[in-house]
Amino acid sequence: MKYFTIDQLSALNEGHEKPVRFVVIGNPVKHSLSPQLHQPALDELGEEARYVRVEVEEGKVGEAFQKLYEAGIRGINVTVPHKLEALEACEFVDPAAKSMGAVNTIVFDQNGKKTGFNTDGPGFARAIREEFSVDLGDLKVVVIGAGGGAGRAIATQCVIENCSQVILANRTLEKLAPMKDQLSKLVHREDLEGPRDRIETIALSDPALEEAIESSELIINTTSVGLKASDPSPFPSRWVEPHHLVYDTIYNPARTRLLREAQAQGARIANGLSLLIHQGALSLEYWLNRDVPLAVMRQGVKNALKD
Ligand code: ATR
Repeated sequence: MKYFTIDQLSALNEGHEKPVRFVVIGNPVKHSLSPQLHQPALDELGEEARYVRVEVEEGKVGEAFQKLYEAGIRGINVTVPHKLEALEACEFVDPAAKSMGAVNTIVFDQNGKKTGFNTDGPGFARAIREEFSVDLGDLKVVVIGAGGGAGRAIATQCVIENCSQVILANRTLEKLAPMKDQLSKLVHREDLEGPRDRIETIALSDPALEEAIESSELIINTTSVGLKASDPSPFPSRWVEPHHLVYDTIYNPARTRLLREAQAQGARIANGLSLLIHQGALSLEYWLNRDVPLAVMRQGVKNALKD
């Protein structure tokens, strides 16, 4: 079974000894790799629990949460397009998730009340530490595609981590002004660089992007440009220099054009696999309240990507 619908919840546990306790909801949801990420970890930890996909229609997320809780579900991951609707359906929302405008992890309390978290931001900070052995907060960053869902979560985390420079770049500039206003409210350390604003916005088509990239240490692609093998780089990759760290949130293909060309320019590169693993691991930590086996999760996803 690739996924269940909300009308099929009574069949969740048919023919299985272990009950479903955790799910990912989305629409479409059939391509989500979350089961391949979480099930090996649950098994390794000896948890009597299965993890499956559930397709939920837009506008029905709150209703779905209630039905899933009644079906014995104890933790939910939320993927596209439900992350905002999920936030609105929660009784409590973690402040960082509120700033990100999105929730990807639901934790139920004993009374079925829901707290929403966003593990994409903190997962990204862990991914950067793992990939480049540096703290995100020590880097000057440019977020390419900051107007999208992933871009906003990552940009918010950069501000929370006190990065001394956060440049928000997007094809559609108008999306960035309200975001900058919101993120500016989170800034709680005075500018380390003098009077200049720590958060700047720029259109992807603005020639000044070259200078913005030059002044950055970490370049993050959060656009969908690169998902297709024939896609170009989201910005001219000749602007990448050897001092840059380049992180592409895309993990399939494993090496986008941007990553290939950035590496050829001498930069250090990493793809979004580490973000996928760490955001998932953080969800599992919230649900189980214990450390989770990262290596097993990584192997699970790698096996799934090979299929
Ligand atoms: P989500 O919000 O689910 O992460 P999205 O709405 O498709 O996904 O947005 C992803 C990001 O990719 C956005 O920043 C989007 O730019 P716009 O805000 O201008 O739409 C960016 N994006 C998508 N296709 C693009 C392209 N061909 N060139 C540049 N940026 C692109």
